[in-house]
Amino acid sequence: MTSELALFGGTPVRTEPFPEGPRFRERDLERIREVVESGNLGGIPFPNRAHREFAELFCGRLGARHGVFLANGTVSLSVALRALGVHAGDEVITTGYTWMGTAAAIVHINAVPVLVDIDPNTWCVDPAAVEAAITPRTRAIVPVHLGNQIADLDALLAIARKHDLVVLEDCAHAHFAEWRGQCVGTHGDAGSFSFESSKIMTSGEGGFLVSREETTHHRAMSLVNCGRKEEGYDSFEGRMLGWNNRGTDLQAAFLVGQVEQHDELHARRKSNVELLTKGLTEIGGFTPVGDDDPRVTRRQYYEVLYRFDAEQWGGVHRDRVLEALLAEGVEFEGITFYPPLHRDSLFTVSAQDWPMIRDRYGDHLGPEDFHLPVSERAAFDESVWVHHSLLTGPASDVDQILEAVAKVRRNVDALR
Ligand SMILES: Cc1ncc(COP(=O)(O)O)c(C=O)c1O
Repeated sequence: MTSELALFGGTPVRTEPFPEGPRFRERDLERIREVVESGNLGGIPFPNRAHREFAELFCGRLGARHGVFLANGTVSLSVALRALGVHAGDEVITTGYTWMGTAAAIVHINAVPVLVDIDPNTWCVDPAAVEAAITPRTRAIVPVHLGNQIADLDALLAIARKHDLVVLEDCAHAHFAEWRGQCVGTHGDAGSFSFESSKIMTSGEGGFLVSREETTHHRAMSLVNCGRKEEGYDSFEGRMLGWNNRGTDLQAAFLVGQVEQHDELHARRKSNVELLTKGLTEIGGFTPVGDDDPRVTRRQYYEVLYRFDAEQWGGVHRDRVLEALLAEGVEFEGITFYPPLHRDSLFTVSAQDWPMIRDRYGDHLGPEDFHLPVSERAAFDESVWVHHSLLTGPASDVDQILEAVAKVRRNVDALR
């Protein structure tokens, strides 16, 4: 069959990679050089100098009371749960549609993850499913603000109040996104962020935990710093076995400038997302996820979520369309972001290693333990994730993306 599609040997629409990673200005490089020349790159004393500078800036922008910079977003969630008083054997409810780290962090403290389905509108955790999953052992809810969406914090906080549970917001995707004019991460008892390489701000690896209560913060500081209690974070009773999860000063130095530049890049992405959404809607088969919920007063664009409708593409599956687009030089993602957790091979949990799951799940936690049809449909058939690297360049990048999608659409019969 002859076709103009690059998948079948035609000329790709785009051969240049999209711009990746943060851009550093001279002032940012100076800040990094200062840390290098100081000879103290690490996390001790804790918090170290660049850590303090960054934590103050990041908390100030979030409107958060207390914050700690730490090794990554996964350990940040584990530290938060322990700081909030979640113990081995306690149940923690989270979404079935997220990166494995969200649920692994629960397992890593020997708590018991309970995966529930998502809201078909936002693909964030469904509050009704959360409430239905509460048992006398439930201690915490971990909503994830997925892609450019925000979980229904009003409903989740009301459920938490009613059942005396703590709420830990997983904001790994959602730096500076706002619900009712207030940044996510500051609505619940604690909020966790990631600065891993793909994120909207990055120090290569890194994480941040904000806490509402001072005692939670002091416990978190201690847990991150090998259980030490030092002046400034010693307000709680007793001691806890900690980890070394300290973020380093070298990492912190990379982040200050990214906070300063955030709004400028965000404005560019917002305008590119509007162009992309308009163009995809005209081509057909791609609908933006989430409606115009007025409670979402600012979206973040780590990944922008679209719902693919194969019927409008002659029954051709999403994966085939994404494969053809990739050949055209445009990488939209589907199943890689993410399989539903109960079917994710990375989320392998056995009672031999994590004995507290045995009561609820037996020897292994597996697909048969959960019924998550909305997560499955999103993950396997509908979801299309567009990474911010495709949306940070000039508007002509979006024109090219749309040209590629239109080309694939024109040739859809060749994909059957
Ligand atoms: C939703 C979500 N939660 C948690 C994490 C864990 O963050 P990290 O990779 O920094 O450990 C990630 C990111 O990778 C994520 O996407």
